[in-house]
Amino acid sequence: MTKIKKIPIILIIILFFSSCSEKIYNIDKAKINYSLSQKFENDFLIGAAINEDQILKKDEKSLSIVQKEHNTITPENSLKWMFIEPNPGNFNFDVSDKYVEYGLKNNMHIVGHALVWHSQLADYMNNVKDSTTMYYHIKNHINTLAGRYKGKINTWDVVNEALNEDGSLRQSVFFKTIGEGYIEEAFKLAEKADPKADLVYNDYNLCNSEKREGAINLVKNLQSKNIKINGVGIQAHWQLNTPSLEEIEKSIIAFSQLGLKVMFTELDISVLPNPWELEGAEINQNFKKFEGDAKMNPYPKALPDFMEEKLAKRYEDIFRLFLKHRDKISRITFWGVTDKHSWLNDWPIKGRTNYPLLFDRNYQSKKAYQSIFDLTK
Ligand code: G3I
Repeated sequence: MTKIKKIPIILIIILFFSSCSEKIYNIDKAKINYSLSQKFENDFLIGAAINEDQILKKDEKSLSIVQKEHNTITPENSLKWMFIEPNPGNFNFDVSDKYVEYGLKNNMHIVGHALVWHSQLADYMNNVKDSTTMYYHIKNHINTLAGRYKGKINTWDVVNEALNEDGSLRQSVFFKTIGEGYIEEAFKLAEKADPKADLVYNDYNLCNSEKREGAINLVKNLQSKNIKINGVGIQAHWQLNTPSLEEIEKSIIAFSQLGLKVMFTELDISVLPNPWELEGAEINQNFKKFEGDAKMNPYPKALPDFMEEKLAKRYEDIFRLFLKHRDKISRITFWGVTDKHSWLNDWPIKGRTNYPLLFDRNYQSKKAYQSIFDLTK
């Protein structure tokens, strides 16, 4: 065989082996990297709320979990009014720009949280007394944020926690100055600022019947005026036994029947004693007296196996329900990455050790992770 004839044969052999090794590599890679977001990629997005340290890349271990497991992110605090517009018209985009940049770089669905919320407001907002000034601030805030991140932030929590537990409207500073129309105005402004973003009403306890009804009325009111709303965010700060699967299912069905996407936006499950069970249901209680009380913080070193099992079973049951309604649910976001940084270590009682998420304090996946991962559809 001449030299010229030999070259193509060698080339074919090289190409054949390289394509085989590529295939072997891909199989191994899939096995190693198979993650929650891949597992549920045809069902719903899987997300995490990320904190400032994570956004600023000071916590690489958490970030590697976020990158591997999630395809959507929410900023736990960094886009809230008190941080982003601490003084009127004085915006601080240092962290929020990095947050959005991170999401874009990793091809993630980026959530903006939250445009209009009575909590974590800047001080000057709490002192506004008239509707004109309040409307001016809301307009400027929404235009600036939704405008700056137009086409980048995919979903906005436009109004957060506007409802009382009985389904009536909360007497927030927005309500007191503008009246109930502030909700409509916020949604209209958000649509104008970024017509393509999904717009969401987000709240907790939306699986309690009275509050669920309140949310349904709120949505129907917007819809009756042709104001755009794409979804309801059920926050899902839950316990081991409540809310019941039946009540969760009722909310999924009710919100979906309004033609909305259903999102579970802040999922975590507390395993610690719930002070409301001892003290009644009033939500804004001060539980300072329980700080340091060992009965209220029973697992300061580690979560016993039987509790790990309970948590895993609760997550499994919930995700089984989510899968049953995967045609209605668009996103499930965990409120945090690992137990180490969960807000539930400090709320409603400061200084406890809680275990509400899928990854432990050593950044390892827990039984709860496996229980979801092993679900068959
Ligand atoms: O920024 C200050 C810092 O300067 C100070 O040194 C430090 C000392 O404690 O506090 C820092 O502020 C904390 C803030 O988070 C930012 O880290 C507040 O104390 C703390 O109370 C605040 O908690 C946040 C909470 O919202 C406030 O309501 C949680 O991290 C955050 O997870 C939680 O998230 C909310 C959602 O946005 C809406 N749904 C409910 C959910 C849980 O409350």
